[in-house]
Amino acid sequence: MIRTRRLRRSEALRDLVRETELDARDFIYPLFITARAGAREEIISMPGIYRYGADRLEEELDELTALGLRAVLLFGLPAAKDELGSGAWAEDGVVQQAVRRIKALRPEMLVITDVCLCEYTSHGHCGLTRGAEILNDETLPLLARTALSHAAAGADVVAPSDMMDGRVAAIRTALDGDGFADTALMAYSVKYASAYYGPFREAADGAPQFGDRRTYQMDPGNAREALRKIAVDTAEGADMLIVKPALAYLDIVRAAREYTVLPLAAYNVSGEYAMLKAAGRLGWLDAERVMLENLLAMKRAGADMVITYHAKEAARLLREGR
Ligand code: PBG
Ligand code: ZN
Repeated sequence: MIRTRRLRRSEALRDLVRETELDARDFIYPLFITARAGAREEIISMPGIYRYGADRLEEELDELTALGLRAVLLFGLPAAKDELGSGAWAEDGVVQQAVRRIKALRPEMLVITDVCLCEYTSHGHCGLTRGAEILNDETLPLLARTALSHAAAGADVVAPSDMMDGRVAAIRTALDGDGFADTALMAYSVKYASAYYGPFREAADGAPQFGDRRTYQMDPGNAREALRKIAVDTAEGADMLIVKPALAYLDIVRAAREYTVLPLAAYNVSGEYAMLKAAGRLGWLDAERVMLENLLAMKRAGADMVITYHAKEAARLLREGR
C-alpha cells in the first residue's frame, strides 16, 4: 500500500524530505529613518518596529548582524515635505545620510533603498500632481534623480516603488550614465492598490492627502496584468522583482515565479504584520508559529527572498531551531 505518512514518522525524516526552508539570509529588513536626531520611536500599529534617527542605527545594525540578517530596505521620513518631494533626492536627505552611516559602520550590510516620492510630497502621492491627476512622465526625472542620489550615497540596490510607467528604464539609464552601472535595480513591479499598506502609511507618514493610488497601483482583481508588468520591467532592465503585498497574493507570487527567471521577492507588508501582532496580543493564535508558517508559504509560493518586518523575530526563532 502506498502510505504518504511513512515519511512523516520522525523529525529526521520530515527534515530530510522538506521542500522549502526558511533562512535568515533570504530576509530583507525594512528600516524607517527619521530626520529627528537621536530618535527611536515605536510605530503604534506595528509593535516592535521603530523609526530611527540616522545617528541611532549602530545598535540596530549590531542586532541585525548578530541574528545573521544581511540586508536592509530603507524608507525616509524627512523634516519637511513640499509639492515636488525635493527631500527625496536631497544630498543630505534622511535616506542618503542613513546609507552613508550604515556603509561607514558596516560596509558588508546590503543596503537597498526605496525610491519613491510619497514620503516627501506634501500631497502624499508617489508622483507629481496637476490638479487631481498624478503625472507620469514628468515624475520620471525626479525618480531617476532620487535613485542616483541613493547610489551616490552608497546604496547597493535601488528599489522604485512608485508604479509610474518607464521608471525602470529612466533609473537604469541615469545610473549607467553617471558611473553607477553596478548599482542593482529591484523593481516593485507588481504592486497592488492595497488596504494592507495602512500601518505603513502611519509609519512613514505617506498617506495621500486626496484621492487614492488606484490610477497607478494595480487592481487587486488582475493577475495577467502582473505578468505584463513583469515583462515590461524586465525589458527595461530590472535585476530583481517584487510582488506586493504577499499573503493575499501568493497566487501572483507563484505565477510570477513560473513566468520570470529573475530573482523574486515577496513583500510581507505592514498590514499583514499588524494583523498578526494584534491577534497574538489578544491570545487568539500562536503568533510566532503563524509568522513562520506565513513566511514559509511565501517562499513555497516561489519567492527567493522576503521583505519582512518579522525578520528579526523569525531569525531568532530559526536560531533556536524552530
Ligand atoms: C511607498 C511604499 C508603500 C509601501 C512601500 N513603499 C506604501 C504605499 O504605496 O502606499 C508599503 C509597505 C508596507 O505596507 O509595508 N510607495
Ligand atoms: Zn510612493
